[in-house]
Amino acid sequence: MSDDVLIVSGGSPLKGEVRVRGAKNLVSKAMVATVLGESPSRMYDVPRIRDVEIVRGLLELHGVKVTNGDLDGELRFDPSNVERAGIDEINVHAGSSRIPILLCGPLLHRLGHAFIPDLGGCHIGPRPIDYHLEALRRFGAIVDKTPEGLHLSAPDGLHGIKYELDYPSVGATEQILLTAVRAEGVTELSNAAVEPEIIDLICILQKMGAIIKVHTNRVIEIQGVPRLGGFTHRPIPDRIEAASWASAALATRGDITVKGARQADMTTYLNVFRSIGGEFEIDDNPVDGGIRFWHPGGDLRPVALETDVHPGFMTDWQQPLVVALTQANGLSVVHETVYEKRFGYTSALNQMGAHIQVFQDCLGGTPCRFGRMGFRHSAVIAGPAKLHATDLIIPDLRAGFSHLIAALAAEGTSRVHGVDLINRGYEDFEAKLAGLGATVSR
Ligand code: EPZ
Repeated sequence: MSDDVLIVSGGSPLKGEVRVRGAKNLVSKAMVATVLGESPSRMYDVPRIRDVEIVRGLLELHGVKVTNGDLDGELRFDPSNVERAGIDEINVHAGSSRIPILLCGPLLHRLGHAFIPDLGGCHIGPRPIDYHLEALRRFGAIVDKTPEGLHLSAPDGLHGIKYELDYPSVGATEQILLTAVRAEGVTELSNAAVEPEIIDLICILQKMGAIIKVHTNRVIEIQGVPRLGGFTHRPIPDRIEAASWASAALATRGDITVKGARQADMTTYLNVFRSIGGEFEIDDNPVDGGIRFWHPGGDLRPVALETDVHPGFMTDWQQPLVVALTQANGLSVVHETVYEKRFGYTSALNQMGAHIQVFQDCLGGTPCRFGRMGFRHSAVIAGPAKLHATDLIIPDLRAGFSHLIAALAAEGTSRVHGVDLINRGYEDFEAKLAGLGATVSR
């Protein structure tokens, strides 16, 4: 375990430039979409992160030939020989990622059968897949839950459905898109998620030959087609990583230019960043543009915010920003409405000197599913707090990055255990930190 520890000497501002590439939460889904095509696909700007490796491994197990292209970050996919994979081999990936569940529709279309490993538990809540399975059954899939995983088949093929999600789930919307595009007939999905990553997935599917209309009021209509081809695509930039670095700039009183960050995907974050007192400057040069984020000096202001589905404030922006809010002068309030258990990481921040209290009540006006269920899903952050170094254990990806920022903002030397988890979603984060002047070592 000892090489999974990062020694962080904090207390200095992070200053410099980092680059973000394609969004993890689009790239991994786009890789799944390649299975639906009958000709090769190509993607640029793919980040070197663990989640991409996991999906690559799963695709290769199913006969998709994945090769590195000529350009840095280019991946090529040849799905001409999609085949069944061994359960034991697939199960090596059990618990490592949520992405395998999205292979259901594509594998059912290509092979008539799919085996999906156990997705595993998660520190941010139970993360059920009931919407996915209900929709797949309505499409005509037979789902057999066994101790080794899920077996799915579609003896009578898959047929378009009219379906309304109880909640605009990102994954369930993607599941329905990836299944409906080749199902027979029309699918009408109501209360769909419309995150930029989903719109980018729709662009990819359209390039492959799909017919998808995005109506107002979260309604998506998909006309199934009998076959799809490949695609060539440059994904939208990773707006979660971009905001993570922006929050790191605020928390450490630094100045970070995030090359590749795009304003259109981040307007909600930018509004909050500005309300707190952070400054930013947008360079929208398509080749080398980005956003510079900096702490202008003086006190930061507190804020009240609620996480929500797009176009609301992303739940994945919450944890790094809370570290910055520990430095604001006054009481900030954050109401988490997407996940029921996403404040576990705050106890480590409190050990470092932060003053964060979590409450079961909904501290905000957005109707929330967790209000009467006893989940501590609202946080009040009193600042400014002087953070001091400590030993930290990283619980999950986004919380992990926030622990790292806290260690960088704190005086003294912290030992951050389990840092490899951060490689799931942040490419080369140690090199990027070093480039920003951080003193970190293994
Ligand atoms: C995606 O997860 C992202 N992951 C998450 O990012 C992100 O936090 C989330 O969307 C919300 O934006 C990927 O794209 C790989 P959901 P997903 O289905 O699709 C409930 C990261 O760190 N729900 O929109 O799994 C669920 O419990 C990750 O990059 C059901 O009840 O999220 C949650 O409360 C973390 N039943 C809510 O919906 C279901 O069948 C939103 O989940 C499905 C979801």
